[in-house]
Amino acid sequence: MQAPLIGVSQNILRIKELIKQVADTGLNIVICGESGVGKEVVTRNLYNSSPRRMKPYIKVNCAALPEGLLESELFGYEKGAFTGAEQKKRGKFQLAHGGVLFLDEIGDMPFSLQSKLLHVLQSGEFTPLGSEKELRTDTWILAATNHDLAEDIKKKKFREDLYYRLNIIKIHIDPLRKRREDIPPLIDYYIKKYTSQFKNKHLLNPDHSVMKKLIEYHWPGNVRELQNVLKRFLVLGDWEEIIEGLQLGGTGTLTNLAGDESPAAEVSNIIDLFNLDSDNGSNLESYSLKKLKKKALDRVEKQVISYVLDKTGWNRSKAAKILKISYKTLLYKISGLNIEPPQGL
Ligand SMILES: Nc1ncnc2c1ncn2[C@@H]1O[C@H](COP(=O)(O)OP(=O)(O)OP(=O)(O)O)[C@@H](O)[C@H]1O
Ligand SMILES: [Mg+2]
Repeated sequence: MQAPLIGVSQNILRIKELIKQVADTGLNIVICGESGVGKEVVTRNLYNSSPRRMKPYIKVNCAALPEGLLESELFGYEKGAFTGAEQKKRGKFQLAHGGVLFLDEIGDMPFSLQSKLLHVLQSGEFTPLGSEKELRTDTWILAATNHDLAEDIKKKKFREDLYYRLNIIKIHIDPLRKRREDIPPLIDYYIKKYTSQFKNKHLLNPDHSVMKKLIEYHWPGNVRELQNVLKRFLVLGDWEEIIEGLQLGGTGTLTNLAGDESPAAEVSNIIDLFNLDSDNGSNLESYSLKKLKKKALDRVEKQVISYVLDKTGWNRSKAAKILKISYKTLLYKISGLNIEPPQGL
């Protein structure tokens, strides 16, 4: 199942670019970020963009199993390797051969198992429990964690040598509160998705004031929490109650729980960027990515052109040269983007 990686923030755009760059390299990757930020979505996107997408995608949650079981899950065992091993069992390294092995919650892997994993990464070989024979494996290792592995190394909970082996490429996904501009497109995407999934229900897009609150909220559970809120709305059908619930979950204020600066200016920028003003806020359908790109581009162009004009004392031909556009285009942009000369010029 492939979920698209929705988002317009620098963080998500950079990750999309990185996915393209690394998908056919086979380099080990660690994806880190808080719970619910989309680590598994990124892993799936990496797999689906890679030449290995026709081969197996095997996931192991390193936090879910006690040490002994995790070891036998990963490496497999021979019949009779331990009490209860009635059948030979293939390990995930064997099952993932040619494809991807996703080691979720790698930060929770027991220390002693970490050295076994390191051995596989170094040699490409592993030995099932109770076997004499080393098996070869060609797996692309993608690992995810919500731990700060550098901190874990200091505390001797994570092996430094394994860290460097795994962490050839690091992808850090920011928490949602650090990329609030992703909130409107995520809401839009999931409202559409859930509306078609739950055919008999109607999910209306949040109106302006609700949307503002959803953008302001600090989302400790990140995208997963956002999904849950939208599902809750599907059942309750009342935004007021849900927003109240979010407030109650915090300290009575929707913002600043994570010690972030007040996002008021940022929120109003996002509202503006997505055209979510009170007139059309209830109709998120009306925005398109194309329009959004144009708006964002206009903004940047306006800033850059104003800056260069300012620095050249509004010498338009000099400014056009610096901007590497024709004089005519510059004049066209000055009027199209409503760039005003300072008083006296
Ligand atoms: N950028 C995104 N676009 C679309 N859906 C997303 C995005 N990020 C997260 N999601 C959705 O949010 C949910 C949580 O994402 P995911 O399971 O990838 O998070 P995670 O970082 O692996 O969390 P955990 O640390 O709890 O395992 C999933 O249903 C996923 O599809
Ligand atoms: Mg996950």
